[in-house]
Amino acid sequence: MNPASMDAAVWAVIEEYEARAAREEQLWDTLGAEEWERRIDEMLLPVGRATGTLLNLLAKEAGARRILEVGSSFGYSTVWLAEAARAVGGKVISLELRAAKTAYATERLARAGLADFVEFRVGDALESLAQLPGPFELALIDLWKNLYVPVFELLHPKLAPGALVIADNMIEPASARPHAQAYRHAVHVARDMSSVLLPVGNGIELSRYQ
Ligand SMILES: C[S@@+](CC[C@H](N)C(=O)[O-])C[C@H]1O[C@@H](n2cnc3c(N)ncnc32)[C@H](O)[C@@H]1O
Repeated sequence: MNPASMDAAVWAVIEEYEARAAREEQLWDTLGAEEWERRIDEMLLPVGRATGTLLNLLAKEAGARRILEVGSSFGYSTVWLAEAARAVGGKVISLELRAAKTAYATERLARAGLADFVEFRVGDALESLAQLPGPFELALIDLWKNLYVPVFELLHPKLAPGALVIADNMIEPASARPHAQAYRHAVHVARDMSSVLLPVGNGIELSRYQ
């Protein structure tokens, strides 16, 4: 994806997020792990440009009209998904625990001209997901890593035939690897899922429900 293939309002917002993410990366170098963890809710923790681009093109290629995002944070990945939703006449439902992050994301999505293509739900994603009927045609799982398996268990029966599920942080950070492995195991033992680990961004597991 490059600026020429994306409208200017969307691209301006993406660049603004990426400038903030770059500043936070520098902060990571100066704060210790303990202080970073204490301030974790101040950080974007974005999927990054490569994964954002891949999410966007997968959603468009699949014509995914019912998109679920589990873990919107400040809305970086939401912008990539919402831009695809607009292109295919669909909508993103995006789940996030922290209301302040959703308020920030809502403002950025509006500035990108994408507000009509996202519905945010604030609260525990497990509770929100239990209430949502599905079916979903594409889902991004990117919340705290210990919740990937319970999210997958709730999501699995709500997948549309051919649905794509993308899970971030399968390779980095190293501290997430035990949870990433548990998630990958859960997907691989589900006989109706085909799945592959891709070294894109932080490492993603791309899975298809048949
Ligand atoms: C890695 S960040 C998501 C980054 C985002 N996808 C992006 O690319 O910009 C994980 C987010 O999951 C949220 N989260 C953690 N546990 C949650 C839960 N139980 N329900 C909903 N959101 C949760 C955190 O507040 C955090 O904002």
